[in-house]
Amino acid sequence: MTSWKEKLGSQIQDDWGEEIDVFAQQMVLRRQGKLAEKIFAETRLRRGVYGQRYDNGKRNDGLQDRALAFPCGDATKGPGTVWDAPGMLRIKIPYGALTIEQVEVLADLSEEYSDNISHITTRQDIQYHYIHIEDSPDLMRRLAATGITTREACGNVVRNVTACPFAGVCGGEAFDVSTYADALTFFILGHPDCQDFGRKIKIAFSGCETSPCGLTMFHDIGLIAKRRIVDGIPKNGFAFYVGGGLGSVPSQAKLLNEFVPEEEIFPVTLAVCRVFGRLGEKDNRTRARLKFLIKSLGMDEFTRLVEQERKILPHDERWAGYLKGPQQGLSKPTKEPSTLAEGPYPDGFKEWVAVNVKAQRQVGYATVTAVCPLGDLSANQMRSVADIARVYVGDNIRLTVEQNLVFRWVTEQDLPALFVALQEAGLAQPSAGTIVDVTSCPGTDTCKLGHASSRGLAAVLREQLAAINSQLDEAVKELRIKVSGCFNSCGQHHAADIGFYGVGRKVRGYMVPHFQVVLGGQWDNNAGSFGLAIGAVPSRNIPLAVRVITTHFVEGREPGEKFKDFIQRLGKPAVKKWIKELTAIPAYDVDRSFYSDWGDSREYSTGDLGIGECAGEVVTLAEFGLSESERQVFDAQLHLDKGVPEEAAQAAFKAMLTAARSLVRIENIDVPDQAEHIVTEFRNRYHETRVFHDPFAGAKFTNYFFRQYEEQGTDVDHETAHHRIEEAQLFIEAAYGCYARLGATAAA
Ligand code: HEM
Ligand code: SF4
Repeated sequence: MTSWKEKLGSQIQDDWGEEIDVFAQQMVLRRQGKLAEKIFAETRLRRGVYGQRYDNGKRNDGLQDRALAFPCGDATKGPGTVWDAPGMLRIKIPYGALTIEQVEVLADLSEEYSDNISHITTRQDIQYHYIHIEDSPDLMRRLAATGITTREACGNVVRNVTACPFAGVCGGEAFDVSTYADALTFFILGHPDCQDFGRKIKIAFSGCETSPCGLTMFHDIGLIAKRRIVDGIPKNGFAFYVGGGLGSVPSQAKLLNEFVPEEEIFPVTLAVCRVFGRLGEKDNRTRARLKFLIKSLGMDEFTRLVEQERKILPHDERWAGYLKGPQQGLSKPTKEPSTLAEGPYPDGFKEWVAVNVKAQRQVGYATVTAVCPLGDLSANQMRSVADIARVYVGDNIRLTVEQNLVFRWVTEQDLPALFVALQEAGLAQPSAGTIVDVTSCPGTDTCKLGHASSRGLAAVLREQLAAINSQLDEAVKELRIKVSGCFNSCGQHHAADIGFYGVGRKVRGYMVPHFQVVLGGQWDNNAGSFGLAIGAVPSRNIPLAVRVITTHFVEGREPGEKFKDFIQRLGKPAVKKWIKELTAIPAYDVDRSFYSDWGDSREYSTGDLGIGECAGEVVTLAEFGLSESERQVFDAQLHLDKGVPEEAAQAAFKAMLTAARSLVRIENIDVPDQAEHIVTEFRNRYHETRVFHDPFAGAKFTNYFFRQYEEQGTDVDHETAHHRIEEAQLFIEAAYGCYARLGATAAA
């Protein structure tokens, strides 16, 4: 049978294809015990291959842990993570932009390898759950053939770059940020300055200050489009914010520079990344985000360090190159504009238009939001999306951070037919951006860190609110509800009017799932302020809590008063009183429903909580490099086994070069990739200083390296290649030894 690699090889860009091959090989090495667990874990995270609940081989039945037997026995894919256990694959969708072809491939893959669901995340990505790790290289190849990568979707790297789904068609924006989000994504991807962090960096773009758009205020790096007249010429640039973040301790981003011209945003981003890489916390993960570094240094010192770093950055043509060439990400209509014909319209059309359709800046066109409850789309729904797009908008599809999907450039005339097509696909619920359209993180369904069922709660709230939607006060309809399964806030509950995060509480000797109620967060102004936690309510009573809170709002608000202002005016103690009586829990034998979570018949327990992989494993750049050199030397052996000694010798030298470069980069991150630079730097920094010298063998291993460098290109037979591989292996061992000695010196 033809493999996907053979079938799609020519359609995948070379470096992406090689990376996937390397990953496949690293999987083999891990199975053979030749790649350390911790390094493999961070390696796969950086490929988007994530853990999933129960992958430690245990499941609590409510009373006790039960072992889940997997055929692989003790084999692991990370600390406490069983090889055969189902996992998650996060697929980066830069600024949420998808083509028809990509949607179709995503549909096929969800059906063939996952549970038939393409899940839209709160950062415009797609996730599959229940993936077997051994399917991941094929999944990656099939995605790569359509221009999608999973690289750096997880792990301590720069994550998906997000942007407003209405960029380019919105009346309020300074300019279309899509092209910048696109170019920055691919500039940063795999960039050496962005591989050595203690935690992740998240970047978001917004077209304006006031709308939610990019939600820049809770991102590590947030860029808001600005237009200025510079020397009489209008100039595009960005207000550059840093250090925002959610998590258990949310932080609003701070202004680094009120106007960074467009050609400067790449170097300034790199400078921030380099300062974070160098000075950011690496040992204590709970304090390893950029926000903590800025707090400890102070904004003035952080700004000074970034400016200093920017000055010494070696120039790169790509910083402004993308502005000259054909720009990616800019969208165009596929049809001529038109106006909506007179009715009659299909049933429900007007209500749907009022909520889910927005006029574009371009007259005659509109955007349509297809509501995807809980962010889940079945394979057939994805195919319907592709069919609809093909007829009405072409490749103009975007995912949203509210877990929906937007069609852009719909002509007004096409709206009724598109509505009917969406209805047939089950995607025409008239609730986009309303209180019904509840956002949720994966929670206890699949996340190891979940304390309570966020998706279960979100599903119940959606259903109940949709049923009474027509009776809801207009001010209530406008509210947003967001649910996270724990304090980590992946559901972005801090930025909701009404937010919830899951907690477990012990009551009369039994565990009871609860949600902490967080009120008054702001979605507008790019999530310009966060809500207040007012107390925990048992999960069963949360729908009631929503009713009580919204009723108080309708009855007590001043004309035109926003929910956030209303909550602030009343103050925490008054608001807390509303939910006080909802905290009472009936005895276990009176109402057992309180003691189970939504959609889960088991007795509730927190026994399934595992160690999350959100922070990744902190593996230094040098450790990564050394591990890569080991893989390359293994590659050399494979070449030798295949009877190609020249390639084996080349691979052996390449492995030595990688090991040497890993050490050089500890002192000089900018060392160019060419052999002559690495050898010279290595000679100066490690050989002549005797730092690399082996305590017993002296310069022996260094000399192998220098000799092989001199002999590159000479003929080799099998035996010589064999020697070279052995020498490379010894050199790499010596490099590990040197690295360990350096660490010991640094720690002393
Ligand atoms: C300590 C561990 C974790 C922390 C601190 C954390 C924190 C966050 C935060 C703050 C966000 C969203 C808002 C933002 O971008 O700032 C987020 C996004 C997200 N988190 Fe987590 N998270 C953790 C672990 C997990 C785990 C284990 C899962 C489930 C597998 C998960 C699933 C998600 C998803 C699906 C998103 C949207 C991400 C995307 O598409 O890039 N998170 N996380
Ligand atoms: S908020 Fe908690 S439960 Fe939800 S995905 Fe994040 S870590 Fe998991």
